[in-house]
Amino acid sequence: MSGMDLPSLLARGRTAHVFALDDARVLRRYDGDEDATAEADVMAYLFTHGYPVPKVESASGPDIVMERIDGPTMLELLLDGRLEPAAAGVTLGELHTRLHAIPPGPGCPPAERMLHLDLHPGNVMVGSRGPMVIDWCNARNGLPDLDIAVSALILAEVIAGGHLPEAGAHEMLVRLLATAGGRPEDQLDEAVRMRAADPHLEPGEIALHDRAALIVRAALL
Ligand SMILES: Nc1ncnc2c1ncn2[C@@H]1O[C@H](COP(=O)(O)OP(=O)(O)O)[C@@H](O)[C@H]1O
Ligand SMILES: [Mg+2]
Repeated sequence: MSGMDLPSLLARGRTAHVFALDDARVLRRYDGDEDATAEADVMAYLFTHGYPVPKVESASGPDIVMERIDGPTMLELLLDGRLEPAAAGVTLGELHTRLHAIPPGPGCPPAERMLHLDLHPGNVMVGSRGPMVIDWCNARNGLPDLDIAVSALILAEVIAGGHLPEAGAHEMLVRLLATAGGRPEDQLDEAVRMRAADPHLEPGEIALHDRAALIVRAALL
């Protein structure tokens, strides 16, 4: 194990806190004065197109009030052995495919779709309605291959950092890539640049990204 721990590796960027309001709703609140309304609009758009996201009730300033998902994250299930890594990889790949099949909003170039850009097992909750994707703070329009490349790179960083048993994590990566398809290799350099531009990087992590990119390229062969 090297560098930062697994929860920190998977939770970089803006910090939010999530509070249960009651059995049915949570409040997600950014620490600073960041605006969460664009993110809430993305979630609402995807919800109306049948994508599995929590239903947004309201949003204002740094706050989103949304449906409470009654289950653990896929990461929790993986860590305590209740979910096979291969099955997790297939689910992540299917979540990409479904997301990128949603028609883009007005003004979006034809080749682009709404992307999540942080789709990893810690951002998928498994509730009674199946897997639900949370944490849309990086969402924007772009090329689907970039979304897949970012997910693959995050899994490979987990492998390179020794955070999960390597054989299982590698199987998850291979299944994700096989299920999602596309040409994520074309966007891998861009994915590395995006991860490397994170202001919360710790020393040594750039090298981790480079090793992770090699792991993704090998998994695509
Ligand atoms: N809609 C929700 N229902 C229930 N729990 C949630 C919901 N959204 C987030 N959580 C909980 O809060 C945690 C962090 O949420 P997330 O949106 O991923 O924020 P971040 O990764 O920025 O801290 C999740 O792992 C989950 O435990
Ligand atoms: Mg998260």
